[in-house]
Order: sequence, then C-alpha cells, then structure tokens
Amino acid sequence: MAVKEIIRMGHPTLRKVAEPYPIDKFDSPEFRQLIIDMQETLHAASGIGLAAPQINLSSQVLVIEVVDTSTRYGEVQAIPFSVFVNPKLTVLEPECTGYWEGCLSVPGLMGFVERPQHIAVEYLNARGENRSLEFKGFLATVFQHEFDHLNGTLFVDRIDDLSLFSYDQEYRDFHLSDRVYPND
Ligand code: NI
Repeated sequence: MAVKEIIRMGHPTLRKVAEPYPIDKFDSPEFRQLIIDMQETLHAASGIGLAAPQINLSSQVLVIEVVDTSTRYGEVQAIPFSVFVNPKLTVLEPECTGYWEGCLSVPGLMGFVERPQHIAVEYLNARGENRSLEFKGFLATVFQHEFDHLNGTLFVDRIDDLSLFSYDQEYRDFHLSDRVYPND
C-alpha cells in the first residue's frame, strides 16, 4: 500500500525545518514513488493539501489538490493535483483574512487563522522545472498552511484568539455560521 500513515501533533518530525529536496533525485524511482504515495495518502484522507513531514519525511515537498470548489467559504478556485518542491513564498499584499483551518495532523480540531491573501510562490514542479504562481484568497491560505509544515509550524501556532480553537463538533454547532471572513 502506498497510503502512508499521517503523523500527528506531538511527533517531533512535525516540528523540524525540512531539508530541501535534492535536485539530482528528481529522476529517481524514489521521488516518483513519493509523489504517488503523497497523492494516495491525500486522497485516502480526503484532504486538500499534504506536506512530506506529515508522512514523517523531513523534505521540502508539498502537494495540493482542490477539486470540490463548493466549500463552507462559498465557491473557491480549483487547483488540479500539484507538486511543489523547495518552494519560496513571497507575500504580495499583507492584508489578512481569516479562515477556520483544520489539519490532517491535528485531527478533530479546528482553529481560526488569519493569513495574507495574495502571495507568490517559486518552486520546482514534479519534473524539476522552475515555476512560479500567485495565489489569492482561500488558496493563498491553503498554500501557507502547507508551507508552514516545511518550517515546523502548525496552524495551532497561528491562532491569535484561542476562543476560536474548537473541536469539530463544537465548530459545526457554534461557529460554522459565523461571519468569519471580514473582507467577504
Ligand atoms: Ni496541515
């Protein structure tokens, strides 16, 4: 099985700064297997993003896929399954918007996190080619959440107001209908 175990908060790998992925390994069976494993693990967990440290590999590799664009935040932009290796992130506009975030490594909990909503990313794709992209809104938040995993940071570290840190059920019962995105 290529579905990997997702490690959870408390595991020390989630708190390490991940190593850059070696450029000379892009052509290797090992790299291709890693991407397949991350895709299958993401699908098995019904997630929208996964970073290599979450499968206990301290490398700067993350994947994102948003196919269901109808979310609790309304319609969001889709992104096909995409691989980001050794990414560099630049904030283009510092204005923040908050979303309730969850994490496959912090199951059962949700927290309200504000992040910049317009970023640029430089990265290597799955073929080792240099690419750049801009993300706005919800996808900017998704990318920053995954990028944080490469630096040993979890969304729980970024919750400013801990009264907005909640179990899933209580989130659904008491917060789901909040007006939580002030610029919307
Ligand atoms: Ni996460």
